Formats: sequence, C-alpha cells, structure tokens
Amino acid sequence: MTATGMYQVVLNSKVKMQHRGPRLHNLIIAMALSFCVLAFRLFAISRQDHQHEVRPVFLDNPLPLKNEVPRNTSDLIAKLAAVTRIAANGSNMTKVFSSEKQLLWNKEHPCSSRREIHSLYSTRKSTHDIQINSNWVSILQEYAKLHRTCVLQMGNVTDFFLKRKHIEGCKFVVAGVSRGSGIGNKALSIVSATVYAVLTQRILLVPQAAAAPGVFCEPFEGSSWTVDPDHIWTKSKKRTDLWDTLAYFHKRVDARALSEAMVKPVYAVSTTENWDAQPEPRFFCDTEQAQYTQVQWINFRNNFYFVPKLFAVPSFRPLLEDIFPHRKVLTQLLRTVMLPCDPVWERVKQVHDSHFRHSDRLVGIQERYFQGKSEFDLLHTTMEENVVSCLLAEGLLPTPNSESQPRTTTVPQEMDEPIVPSNSPEVLNSLNVTTIFITSLYQSLADRLSRDYVLTTTESDDPVGVVQLTHEETQNFGVEVDKHALVEILCLSLTDNLVLTPQSTFGALAQGYGGLVPWFIDLRPETQTPCVPAT
Ligand SMILES: *[C@@H]1O[C@H](CO)[C@@H](O)[C@H](O)[C@H]1NC(C)=O
Ligand SMILES: *[C@@H]1O[C@H](CO)[C@@H](O)[C@H](O)[C@H]1NC(C)=O
Ligand SMILES: *[C@@H]1O[C@H](CO)[C@@H](O)[C@H](O)[C@H]1NC(C)=O
Ligand SMILES: *[C@@H]1O[C@H](CO)[C@@H](O)[C@H](O)[C@H]1NC(C)=O
Ligand SMILES: *[C@@H]1O[C@H](CO)[C@@H](O)[C@H](O)[C@H]1NC(C)=O
Repeated sequence: MTATGMYQVVLNSKVKMQHRGPRLHNLIIAMALSFCVLAFRLFAISRQDHQHEVRPVFLDNPLPLKNEVPRNTSDLIAKLAAVTRIAANGSNMTKVFSSEKQLLWNKEHPCSSRREIHSLYSTRKSTHDIQINSNWVSILQEYAKLHRTCVLQMGNVTDFFLKRKHIEGCKFVVAGVSRGSGIGNKALSIVSATVYAVLTQRILLVPQAAAAPGVFCEPFEGSSWTVDPDHIWTKSKKRTDLWDTLAYFHKRVDARALSEAMVKPVYAVSTTENWDAQPEPRFFCDTEQAQYTQVQWINFRNNFYFVPKLFAVPSFRPLLEDIFPHRKVLTQLLRTVMLPCDPVWERVKQVHDSHFRHSDRLVGIQERYFQGKSEFDLLHTTMEENVVSCLLAEGLLPTPNSESQPRTTTVPQEMDEPIVPSNSPEVLNSLNVTTIFITSLYQSLADRLSRDYVLTTTESDDPVGVVQLTHEETQNFGVEVDKHALVEILCLSLTDNLVLTPQSTFGALAQGYGGLVPWFIDLRPETQTPCVPAT
C-alpha cells in the first residue's frame, strides 16, 4: 500500500466520524435531558447541518500539529522496539537474523576497532579519557534491529525507492555529501544525520561516495547502510522527479490548514536548496519537524555538523539531554558510528606502538594551508613561529639549551626514537619523553622542530621525538587518500595535546575522536597569542 493510499483511508474515516459523531452524542443527551434542553440541542443540530450546506466541510487537519518525540532514553528504546515490531509485520526477526547469520556477517565485516578503540585511548598518560555513555550504546543496539528489519525486507534499496514502495514502520534518511568532500566533512555530515535518524526512528542510508566503504566500518550489525548508484541519491537537487524540492515542502507546510494540503503527502524531500552546507533554518523548527514525520524519505546533502542545532529543536531537546547528559556528543558519535576499518586501524596501532606507547607526553600538530603551495609560501614562516611559541608558552616542549649544542650521540635513522644519553635504567625512568606528531602536506615544520629539539640538547635533557608520516605537497581524493587521512586523524586524536589550524574539519575530527580541547594557531604575524585554547 502506498503512503498516499493510507492517507486517504485515514481521511475517509475522519469524514464519517464528523457526520455521525455529533448526532449520536446529541441523541444520548436528548434522552437524558428535559424538553427545553432538547429543543436547544435540536436547534444546535439544525444549525450545524445548515452550516454544512452553505460552506464546504473543513476537515480536521490530519497533518500532525505537534512533533511527538520520546522524552527520554527508555521511551526512545521502547519506541524503536515498537516500530521494529510494526516493520517486521509478524515475522520473527530473531529467526530471520539467526546466530549463524550473525557470525557470518561479523566475519564478513570485521571491525576490531569496535572492541579496541577505548583501550587505546585510555593508554594516554596525561589525558583522562571520557566514558562512552551507556544510554547511547543501548539506543544504537535497538536501532540496529530496526535498521536490519527494514533493510532486509526492502531487497534492492534503490529499486524500492524508485518504485516508491512502502513498508509500514520504515522511513528513511539519506546522508549525502557534496562532491569532492574530504573525510572530515563526510564523517561530520553522517554523524549528524545519524542522530536525526535515531531520534526520529528512521533508517539511515549513506551513498557509497560518502560512506567510504573500506575506510569506515558498517555500524549496524546485519544490514548495510550503503546505497548505490550515486546519481540517484546525491543528485537530489537535479532529480526533482525523485525528490521534491524544499520550496514545495515548505509550501505544503504553510498551507497545512487548507484542505488541499492533505491530499498527497510528500514522499521524498531534500532538506537543502542550492549549495547549502546544512539543512535550511526551518528544518530546526517544531512545526516543520511535525510535518517531516509524514515524509517517507528525507535527503540531507551536507558538509556540516548540525547536532548542536538539533539540541535547539524544542521537541528534541529533552531526549538529547537525557541521552547525552555529559555532552561530548561528537566523541560519542565518532567512536560508535564512524569506526575505522581494519586496514586503517592496523596502521594506527602500528604508529601507536612504535611512536606513542613509550612517550610521557604526546603533542599532535595539524598544519593546514587551505590554498595550497601559494599560501604555504606566504604563511609558513609565521605558522611555524607561532606553533613553536605556542608549544613553549603552554609548556609542551622542554626548553632548548641556549647554547644549542649539537647532540654528541649519533642521531638514529628514525627521528622519533627517544635519544637516551645513558643506558642506566634510573636515568631512563627520570627522563620525560615528548613525542610530537605532525600532519601536514609539507615537511618544513618537522624539519624545524627536529633541528631545534631532536638534533640539539634541551636544558633538562628530556628527549623529544618528531613523527610525520607523509608530506604529499598536494591534496588528493580517493579511497586510499581517505584511508590515509583517517590514519592521521586517529593518530592526532591519540595525543594528549592538540594544536590545530583553525576551521579545518580534519582537525575537528581529531579533536572529536580524542575528546580533546585543542589550541588553535593564531595565524597573525608577531601576535601576542600564538595560539588560543578552544572554548
Ligand atoms: C521516561 O518518560 C516517561 C514519560 O514520557 C516516564 O513515564 C518514565 O518514567 C521516564 N523514564 C525515566 C527513566 O525517566
Ligand atoms: C523468535 O525466534 C526465536 C529463535 O528462533 C525464539 O527464541 C523466540 O521465542 C521467537 N519469538 C517469538 C515472539 O516468536
Ligand atoms: C537495484 O535496482 C537498481 C534500479 O532498479 C538497479 O539499477 C541495480 O542494478 C539493482 N542492483 C542489484 C544489485 O540488483
Ligand atoms: C504483511 O504480511 C502479510 C502476510 O504475511 C502480507 O500479506 C502483507 O503484504 C504484509 N504487509 C506488508 C506491508 O508488507
Ligand atoms: C613530563 O612533563 C610534563 C610537563 O612538564 C609533566 O606534566 C609530566 O608529569 C612529566 N612526566 C614525567 C613522567 O615526569
């Protein structure tokens, strides 16, 4: 049955109710009351009938006026379970997704980071790691059942969408990103859509280009969130045959008190016009959200983290505050929904084992030039100057020896190997090893830090190591690039202290995964504040 069909059933029954309800009611009252009152009631009935004759009946608006949202975690879990039961339509989903199938699925979709990520973060020596909150984890477990129930029944998802099919209980969110988006934008857009999908009990689907299979794990056990081919899902603006425009949806919302607005609900709508990086402002209003509950498919095409804005929607707020009482929402989302696939995770662990594990203090620096080489030439002297001043001002580097003597020990091949002046274990224990991890397309900052800290002694003799995995000079795109970018992001996030170039989603992701409060580099020359702590 199509959504349109269902609507008409609801409408018809409402029409009948209006005609019969008052009369029956009046009859009962009439029998119980005196003649005088009866006369009055009869007058009232005749007046009602009269009204019906002179003007068309205005039906009660079937579009909801209020956005009904569960109030707390247990409400939401109950709601998810109820919707799953409806979607299952009588079949026993525990039987459908048997334990053998579960084993097989997990074998085909290995994701060791799911089990290991928390212990790796907790190895940091000077950062108290945050706990993943159990409310969110329980909600995701229940949500995965709904996801699986709908996806397994849909068969070919693209075909299902193109033929405008309908399964009672299953509604959808598509999380697309603009072409050419980097890994940072992808992850931030997807987690935003995830929160919305879970709150509204919708199935989250991600076009392949955004889901980056091979980079991120499939987060929902037993069903895939990936959809393909891309052009159906990401060209929502051009495909007005498939996706209604936002203007059309808003027109319906505005006309919701009029009878014609009720005839045909919107099947699929895109939440953005033009090149918006996030849903339009009206998306975050309760009235619009009430109307969106009637839409089967919602398409996001974002490059923006809009979870904070969801907290601002009055009907969502109590639930979100109940799920995430200690906030740090981005960290919770990234570490549960955007987990790295095994090849990425193995590389992260390798870097951790060889460079991070034995450090007492880890500093991550992300140096980014948005305009490429020309900006690098223009800015890098200031950038490097401010990074070094920042590290010294914040006590993240030992003070270099003023005489700047070259080290007498030979420099090992690996720059990051701690240089230990004596073999005695006491000396080793008293040393305070700092490792600086740099991500940059260029090598200049690493060279400078190596020259001043690795190749020369410091006053305290505390060793400093500098690690940079690559310096590619130009930014590229593709699965391999995404994989490598995620390795670097996760390595940055495993440090204790982050120094970031402002306004980069790459840095935002590192800070998010790590649950860290970074310093942002001030890019002005000779500034009094070489870096500013994030608020
Ligand atoms: C959740 O909200 C419902 C009302 O919506 C209430 O009955 C229930 O006690 C609440 N549960 C918790 C754990 O606060
Ligand atoms: C569904 O199947 C499972 C395993 O086959 C069984 O344990 C369970 O009782 C069934 N549930 C219902 C509601 O029939
Ligand atoms: C799914 O359906 C779409 C559209 O009908 C079709 O292009 C695609 O080949 C189908 N995919 C599979 C795996 O059958
Ligand atoms: C639900 O199941 C019944 C019988 O098993 C079937 O006839 C009906 O089409 C199903 N409904 C939907 C919406 O899939
Ligand atoms: C290393 O130095 C940092 C910063 O001065 C300090 O917080 C930390 O406790 C030191 N660690 C050891 C093992 O001395």
